[in-house]
Amino acid sequence: MRTALLAAALLAALAAPAAAQRLLDWSEAEVALVGQHGPWPLPPARDASNRISGTPVGIALGEHLFNDARLSGDGLMSCATCHQAGRDWSDGRARGRARVDLDRRTPSLWNVGYLHWFGWTGAGDSLWAQSIRPILDPLEMAGSRERASRLLREDKDLACGYERAFGTKPDGDDERLLVDAAKALAAFQATLVSPRTRFDDFRDALVAGDREAAARYGLSEQRGLKLFIGEGNCNACHFGPRFTNGEFGDIGIAFFVRPGEVDSGRLGGIATLAASPFNLLGRYNDDPSGISARRTRHVRHLHSNFGEFRVPGLRQVGRSAAYMHNGGFATLEDVVRHYSEVSPDRLHSDGTPLVRPLGLSAQQSTDLVAFLRSLDADPPPRPAPSPLCP
Ligand code: HEC
Ligand code: HEC
Repeated sequence: MRTALLAAALLAALAAPAAAQRLLDWSEAEVALVGQHGPWPLPPARDASNRISGTPVGIALGEHLFNDARLSGDGLMSCATCHQAGRDWSDGRARGRARVDLDRRTPSLWNVGYLHWFGWTGAGDSLWAQSIRPILDPLEMAGSRERASRLLREDKDLACGYERAFGTKPDGDDERLLVDAAKALAAFQATLVSPRTRFDDFRDALVAGDREAAARYGLSEQRGLKLFIGEGNCNACHFGPRFTNGEFGDIGIAFFVRPGEVDSGRLGGIATLAASPFNLLGRYNDDPSGISARRTRHVRHLHSNFGEFRVPGLRQVGRSAAYMHNGGFATLEDVVRHYSEVSPDRLHSDGTPLVRPLGLSAQQSTDLVAFLRSLDADPPPRPAPSPLCP
């Protein structure tokens, strides 16, 4: 017992000065900037436009539907075919694959409930509207209103789950039932919150002034974080606890899909949003206050939206390669090289560019990647979905 105590004291004495040396100097301004990337996790997301958002029965129905291939035209493809739980809710591919290779990458669904624009170009203004898109898209699940509503009416478990979630039997018209299915899907997806990471431990320790705990974060990670919030200006767009401001940016990624065909990015997304019967200005918004529709009401086409894509959140980023809307980069090293060498001529936005070639040294690039990797953590194992009608 005595020896164990002595050994522990000796170890602590040895560790303390070394640990103290491993904390870089952090100015008050830097501590404030780091603090803005937390705390994590955020409180659960609630969506006023979705009347079953946050309800356990709605979430359970959504999880069952998420894994149900009968929503697709040929009965072979579910949401989980592309958004795989074991792959951080993406598919590990550069571009989505369905009947054909898609032009864009399958985004991870971590923390999707906190967004206000959905998809790479913001073509959806709610999580439920965004969840209708793949069901109806002939290139993806190729389902239909009729198919989705028949499934809810005729499958005994789903019909029972529907009644518990919505308080009525599934006897609305086909389109309304499709929307309700999507609202359940949204309720489920909003629960996909990424786990705490080593960065979060550092951030909390730094903010609390706990130098010893903060010093557990690697030196390379600390230097990378300083670049991220400093010279790199990364946090201008990758802002807040999710590391995205939820808006759109142009960082000079190629927008040619194939010779002669471009992905116009946000510009096209706004047009799709405006034409959608499922946007928040339409009849399926459950929010009587109208507040949830405010952003949609004020969207305007601007030429500068051409070539803009939604700023991705960076939590779990090291686990969900490839990168960018077109999967153009295979590794985080490639992404950092892009920011180091980006040609200002490639940026098409008007106004002051937030991105400029950083000309990073090899050490700085390594540091930035080390920091990005500190935003990864193994998620806890998922419990089996709760039964719809126990
Ligand atoms: C064939 C593969 C595939 C299937 C199946 C699929 N998705 Fe996706 N998902 C994608 C791709 C690709 C995108 C990017 C679309 C875009 O922005 O153009 C995407 C985007 C999304 C987004 C937006 C995420 C964000 O960060 O804004 C959500 C939400 C989503 N899918 C949910 C679903 C749901 C729910 C289903 C099932 C009803 C589903 N997906 C089925 C490939 C797929
Ligand atoms: C002008 C806003 C802006 C700034 C500044 C910015 N980014 Fe980005 N970032 C974006 C956008 C937009 C994308 C997606 C572009 C696309 O898909 O075409 C992106 C993509 C990424 C990705 C890929 C994520 C994924 O899931 O595909 C990483 C990693 C990244 N940025 C890190 C950084 C780092 C590190 C910095 C600083 C050196 C930085 N960003 C600065 C807007 C920005």
